[in-house]
Amino acid sequence: MLSVRPIEETDRALLRQFLVDNWGSTRMVSRGKLHDVPALDGVLALAGDEIVGILTYVDEGGSCEIMTIDSLTPRLGVGRFLLDHMERLAPSRGWMRLWLITTNDNVPAQKFYEDCGWTLVTVHKNALEASRMLKPEIPLTGIGGVPITDELEYEKRLG
Ligand SMILES: CC(C)(COP(=O)(O)OP(=O)(O)OC[C@H]1O[C@@H](n2cnc3c(N)ncnc32)[C@H](O)[C@@H]1OP(=O)(O)O)[C@@H](O)C(=O)NCCC(=O)NCCS
Repeated sequence: MLSVRPIEETDRALLRQFLVDNWGSTRMVSRGKLHDVPALDGVLALAGDEIVGILTYVDEGGSCEIMTIDSLTPRLGVGRFLLDHMERLAPSRGWMRLWLITTNDNVPAQKFYEDCGWTLVTVHKNALEASRMLKPEIPLTGIGGVPITDELEYEKRLG
């Protein structure tokens, strides 16, 4: 049984450590913008008291960019639960569109978004060249040794 709560100030050190351990950095670049992820809004998925998922986002007014999504217990529905939560939140926040960026090497995430009903709207070819100017620590290769070159933009339009 999963529950969700907002990230609070007291969670931020843990979030920072998680990002360093799992992503090698607390900074993310998306569409040419650098984000300090531990400072963003976010939600935690909980199984009892245990944190099993983390999602951070940027509220843009009429839309919302999901900056990071991580499941600590893969393939048990945590990722889908977090995306569903963001959809449930949307009417009260005025979001008509949820969107996110992933990279071309992250084929498992692409499958996940598509299986959750999200649509690939744009492939930003060679976007990582500009991203690396802002964040030089982005590795050249990613999952499966695939060169990381493109940003893939996924969205969920909301009625
Ligand atoms: C992507 C991620 C968040 C998915 O979370 P999750 O909790 O494992 O996903 P769910 O269990 O909710 O999966 C929902 C459905 O998505 C699909 N799916 C999820 N992970 C998948 C994978 N690795 N390969 C193929 N399909 C996958 C399946 O259809 C799955 O349903 P099923 O398990 O009943 O077959 C998780 O794999 C993760 O944390 N990855 C590392 C961080 C990351 O890459 N984040 C995205 C950055 S853009």
